[in-house]
Amino acid sequence: MATDRIINSESENEQEADNEKSLRPKFLKEYIGQAALKQELSVYIKAAKQREEALDHVLLYGPPGLGKTTLAFVIANELQVNIRTTSGPAIEKSGDLLSVLNDLQPGDVLFIDEIHRLPRVVEETLYSAMEDFFVDIIVGQGPTAHPIHFPLPPFTLIGATTRAGLLSAPLRDRFGILASLNYYEESDLQDIVQRSATVLHTKVTESAAQEIALRSRGTPRVANRLLKRVRDFAEVAQQTTIDRDLAKQALDQLQVDQAGLDQVDRRLLTMMIDLYEGGPVGLKTIAANIGEDVETVETMYEPFLLQQGFLKRTSRGRMVTKKAYTHLHRALPTTD
Ligand SMILES: Nc1ncnc2c1ncn2[C@@H]1O[C@H](COP(=O)(O)OP(=O)(O)OP(=O)(O)O)[C@@H](O)[C@H]1O
Ligand SMILES: [Mg+2]
Repeated sequence: MATDRIINSESENEQEADNEKSLRPKFLKEYIGQAALKQELSVYIKAAKQREEALDHVLLYGPPGLGKTTLAFVIANELQVNIRTTSGPAIEKSGDLLSVLNDLQPGDVLFIDEIHRLPRVVEETLYSAMEDFFVDIIVGQGPTAHPIHFPLPPFTLIGATTRAGLLSAPLRDRFGILASLNYYEESDLQDIVQRSATVLHTKVTESAAQEIALRSRGTPRVANRLLKRVRDFAEVAQQTTIDRDLAKQALDQLQVDQAGLDQVDRRLLTMMIDLYEGGPVGLKTIAANIGEDVETVETMYEPFLLQQGFLKRTSRGRMVTKKAYTHLHRALPTTD
């Protein structure tokens, strides 16, 4: 299962979610990487504050664990406003949405995680709330049914999604700021490892931080998780500082390689090579062969493999690249 993966980029459980909170940067200057996005946001935030207006609605999208939730909190902190958080599946009816919106003070942030999972009726109620700060809710049934008009304070909606493609066009169009988060550079991940180590009162040498960064799939959540596992190894070995050797040893035991691939990634690629001569293979076939559902393959495994050039997309399905053959020490297929 995906949840057993050490490099699973989704949050594993409640305890990990709690741990994450303590590792979250609170302000833009502590938020590492995503330089262009940060620069852009800081301008919009400053302008909104100067005008004493609510910031435009923001849509944050990108693969799991890249810092969308973190950034939503950072934005609220920078604006010096309150943030209320909820998620798409938690808002079942328009009334639920109204009660959340009703609690907001002027300028506050409402954060809706997994916004692509908002029920359609709620989404439609959200349109007028986003555009003109009111909602009309129908009360009663049959001949007594009538709309009630609720004006709302101006607020900023921050939506987050790993699947921007699933968002309806009318909803997407109502966000003034579209922010896409990308996989992090190795040097940024190294900084994130160092920062987290400080928060966790752990010492990590520069080369050890680099080793961890290298295997983190471009993902801060994975970097933090690997750091914690390596720290466990260090504690057992009674080593006060994590050095490169220890990090390497621990990460090898966890079977995460230097390209950031774990057993499942390697199994996926090997399966495509052994059973399908490298492809093209359809997504459903890939999912069935590795015992995962299509959505998991599509959001969690594939984006990184595509981004790193181990896989490519063709009109007939996914194909393994030369880079993957080399990485797995496989002979390239001979063309006849
Ligand atoms: N830019 C960053 N600098 C430092 N740490 C970061 C950064 N981005 C993310 N992190 C760390 O990574 C962890 C995961 O980030 P976060 O929960 O914000 O990801 P997410 O994109 O919301 O993931 P999901 O899609 O699963 O909700 C956090 O604990 C945070 O500490
Ligand atoms: Mg999140």
